[in-house]
Amino acid sequence: MATVQQLSKQLTERPSEPESSDFQIRTYGGPEDIGPWLELRSAAFARQRVGVRQWTPADFEAEFLGRWWWQPERMWLAESGPENSPQKQVVGAVMLAMRGEGEQARPVVHWLMVHPGWRRRGIARALTTQLEARAWDLGFRQVWLETHAQWSEAAAFYESLCYVARS
Ligand SMILES: CC(C)(COP(=O)(O)OP(=O)(O)OC[C@H]1O[C@@H](n2cnc3c(N)ncnc32)[C@H](O)[C@@H]1OP(=O)(O)O)[C@@H](O)C(=O)NCCC(=O)NCCS
Repeated sequence: MATVQQLSKQLTERPSEPESSDFQIRTYGGPEDIGPWLELRSAAFARQRVGVRQWTPADFEAEFLGRWWWQPERMWLAESGPENSPQKQVVGAVMLAMRGEGEQARPVVHWLMVHPGWRRRGIARALTTQLEARAWDLGFRQVWLETHAQWSEAAAFYESLCYVARS
């Protein structure tokens, strides 16, 4: 059975976003981003031992666009290719979601993923740094997430960014 793990990280200063020439990071631009995001999701989780079911655009709308916390500028996409090139591919993504409401609301790393052909180039680190900086700007000093103990790449990644287990 899948073991869900809760991790969190204390923010002690505002993270500064790293620069890269291999990819660019931008926020959600509208419905035209839904198809590429769904394709990325299929590719990124295809080889996980604990898989995820296929989603349709309707799932995307229900899971994100319909949530109280949803804002286009809280979802980041990493694109490969030179700036302004028409052949860009979405190779990574993450979103800043909220758990709880009102005073209890806390920021969570949601649906972080990188295309298998683009891993170990710092894309997830860059995406997460953007998210942490936004959380900091919103006044939060701790960021949370849920992952599966069986997702070993994710575990290694979060450990490298100093996320630690919470009971
Ligand atoms: C986890 C994931 C997002 C990491 O993406 P990535 O872009 O390859 O990660 P980065 O290149 O930014 O890695 C940063 C650091 O994390 C650690 N790390 C990342 N992947 C690792 C792996 N497979 N094994 C060991 N360490 C790893 C390393 O310390 C790495 O730094 P280094 O490459 O300089 O050694 C990616 O593997 C993925 O999409 N996995 C499938 C989806 C998933 O599990 N998402 C998380 C859901 S909670």
